[in-house]
Amino acid sequence: MAEITKTAEWRALENHFKDIKNSHMRDLFMSDPERFDKNHLQLNDFLFDFSKNRITDETKKLLIALAEKAGLQDWRGRLFSGEKINFTENRAALHIALRNRANKPIKVDGEDVMPLVNHELSKIRKLSEEIRSGVWKGFSGKKIKSIVNIGIGGSDLGPSMVCDALRPFGSEDISPYFVSNVDAADLSQTLEKCDPETTLFIVASKTFSTQETMTNAFSARDWFIKKAKNNEFIKNHFVAISSNEKAAEDFGIHAENVFVLWDWVGGRYSMWSSIGLSIAIFIGMENFEQILEGGYEADNHFISAPLEENIPVMMALIGIWYINFFNFSTFAVLPYDHCLAKLPSYLQQADMESNGKFIGRDNKKVCQKTGPILWGEAGTNGQHAFYQLLHQGTQITPCDFIMPLHSNYKLADDKNDHHKILQANFIAQTQSLMIGKSISDVENEMKNEIMDNPSLKNLVSHRIFEGNRPSNSILFESLSPKSLGRLIAIYEHKIFTQGIIWNINSFDQWGVEYGKQIAKLVLPKLESKQHSETFDSSTNNLINYINNNT
Ligand code: F6P
Repeated sequence: MAEITKTAEWRALENHFKDIKNSHMRDLFMSDPERFDKNHLQLNDFLFDFSKNRITDETKKLLIALAEKAGLQDWRGRLFSGEKINFTENRAALHIALRNRANKPIKVDGEDVMPLVNHELSKIRKLSEEIRSGVWKGFSGKKIKSIVNIGIGGSDLGPSMVCDALRPFGSEDISPYFVSNVDAADLSQTLEKCDPETTLFIVASKTFSTQETMTNAFSARDWFIKKAKNNEFIKNHFVAISSNEKAAEDFGIHAENVFVLWDWVGGRYSMWSSIGLSIAIFIGMENFEQILEGGYEADNHFISAPLEENIPVMMALIGIWYINFFNFSTFAVLPYDHCLAKLPSYLQQADMESNGKFIGRDNKKVCQKTGPILWGEAGTNGQHAFYQLLHQGTQITPCDFIMPLHSNYKLADDKNDHHKILQANFIAQTQSLMIGKSISDVENEMKNEIMDNPSLKNLVSHRIFEGNRPSNSILFESLSPKSLGRLIAIYEHKIFTQGIIWNINSFDQWGVEYGKQIAKLVLPKLESKQHSETFDSSTNNLINYINNNT
């Protein structure tokens, strides 16, 4: 395919951008009472309102044409058929197989992967039921009360985010903990809450070689053995999730306690696999399967809905409109549900590790910007921190506002109506970002004050809101396993769609390797306190400063 920025479809969008860039959404809403009707999509109880964006019917038409030009429909089929679209690692990207609830065969190298997926699911079911029911016992005969997932990145963020999000569905007898950082504080603070007799460690690492995870796993094993005094007991307290079964067994984990995942499951797409073991233990297998059902619902929608009615596709195209034409580089995820507080971090890895790339599938440097800087925070906390910049800053950040209609939490005497307040704030933010406040509105508002004190007129400009700041609103019935699965899978397909249009491989992550290589060169210098002259003067001096002062 021709370089996307050289296509007639891209040029048409550039021309259209010149026409529309100064239009204000306030006027677009005024001139079209049906703007919401025309610019929202629904997938069962999932409502995606994209009417508060700087788009017209023409924008949508041109963006869809761009997606078609990029061959999105074809690539969508290639993703779902198990083709090795992650060509730099010669791998398929088959997270959809993990939630393929219809069990339709999907082949990789001629082999149907569904029997493998189903076998792992049955192992997850068995272990999670044994732990929850107390059949699985620790070395001294006690039930497991704490599960500690040791993993990082994709082997941590998904399970950790989901266990927080679905806490109301969780067991009252089991506490899930997540240790990711190699900083000893992380493991120490977790172990303080655990008893070796009642703790199960899940060493989650696709490669089983990640420095942080292995360091934490060895320290956890030392902590455990100190109390258990017998390596034999490791089998009651350590399980592993890895595609490197041999390394897990070498660590001391019994073969039957090793859960496998395959090279066609990317780390940041792995919460649907045995990486979700901690989720299944905490919320139960039926609920874990509901997460898969939600993902499957999103998959069916993505693969079959026409592009203009396709939620992930429209999300992706609107994102591209802002990143590549308006030149807005960042994107905020703002969940109005405290239980989704970790969603921005989760999506940060999903999006930035997938699409933060400057080399295209044609091995050349891409000619346009790719993935945005994704950040965010739960509402309403963010309102009291960074929304000032969202409203009046010089950079514009498109936002996704996300909220369930019903909260999973109700205080015993809920006369203070927490959830309605949360909802009112959600609506107020999306509306004020869009509509803004004009000079005449401010003058009107300050009329009496200015009459009493004319010098206050100077303050008028400070109170103006330009508005025209875009956002999507995402609403769904309640935060359940199924709705969460659907939400995550929708974002995965959005990221995929953008990657296709930008002509990049969304499934590798070479960019994180270089730092790891250098760390391996630095570590021996710190361990031996050896004077460093190997690097540039800053790096040498930092190493030597640490060595001289520790
Ligand atoms: O360093 C990045 C990364 O490779 C992620 O892509 C991955 O999710 C994470 O590290 C953890 O890798 P592993 O599961 O192999 O320990």
